[in-house]
Amino acid sequence: MISQSDNKFIGACIRKRNKKFDMNIINHLEWRYACKKFDSNKKLKKDQVDILKKAFNLSATSYGLQPLKLLIVKNDPLKEKLLPLAYYQKQVSTCSHILIICIDTAFGADDIDAYFDREKQIRGVSEAIVGKFRQQLKVVYSKKTQKEIEDSAIYQAYIALGTLMTVCAEQRIDSCPMEGFNAKKLDEQLGLKDKNLRSVLLLPVGFRAEDDFMRKMKKVRKPLNEVIIELD
Ligand SMILES: Cc1cc2nc3c(=O)[nH]c(=O)nc-3n(C[C@H](O)[C@H](O)[C@H](O)COP(=O)(O)O)c2cc1C
Repeated sequence: MISQSDNKFIGACIRKRNKKFDMNIINHLEWRYACKKFDSNKKLKKDQVDILKKAFNLSATSYGLQPLKLLIVKNDPLKEKLLPLAYYQKQVSTCSHILIICIDTAFGADDIDAYFDREKQIRGVSEAIVGKFRQQLKVVYSKKTQKEIEDSAIYQAYIALGTLMTVCAEQRIDSCPMEGFNAKKLDEQLGLKDKNLRSVLLLPVGFRAEDDFMRKMKKVRKPLNEVIIELD
């Protein structure tokens, strides 16, 4: 029989080993995969959802302007309504929450002002410091077409997707990045136009189902020497 002190010792060894060998970021990234079927009985706890909200807000954006919003759907009937708009991909109806990454289509000078006002408040800097850059950025944005502004926001949405997927993996939360949905119809269904939003990406999150056919599949990746070029 294992004594209590042996038990403690074994526990400490496992923790040490986990730290050294398993619990590194590469291990987390190998653990994750694009989940095709979630266990619909397993739901994220509030603190797990809170971590994902914070991670979304911490994602880097160009100039820090954050032209994005995250919608979170946990209501089952609403998930079912979104299922056909995602071409019946079961991730959408079996997940715990659907994260919908949207761009702000009304992004403009007011948002640039809000950014610099916030910076002044948080960092305690004066208008003398930020004023010139504020004006420069407004000029840069005034020269962009609406399409250019939205395209630039879409790039930020993809960065947020990567941030969220990585944080999910580290938290042992399953996810599936998804472009495969009818964004126009989803925007109509959720009344996003009235909110000056456009959906770009879905990220259903939850916990993998026992019978998800992708669960045991090996990762398919090119060998490193085909994707990395080291320039001397
Ligand atoms: C931007 C993007 C969009 C994707 N859209 C879908 C999708 O609509 N449906 C789906 O099942 N998987 C989708 N995937 C998942 C990819 O097929 C998957 O990430 C890829 O095959 C690599 O496999 P892994 O993520 O399991 O390692 C998408 C992935 C990315 C990055």
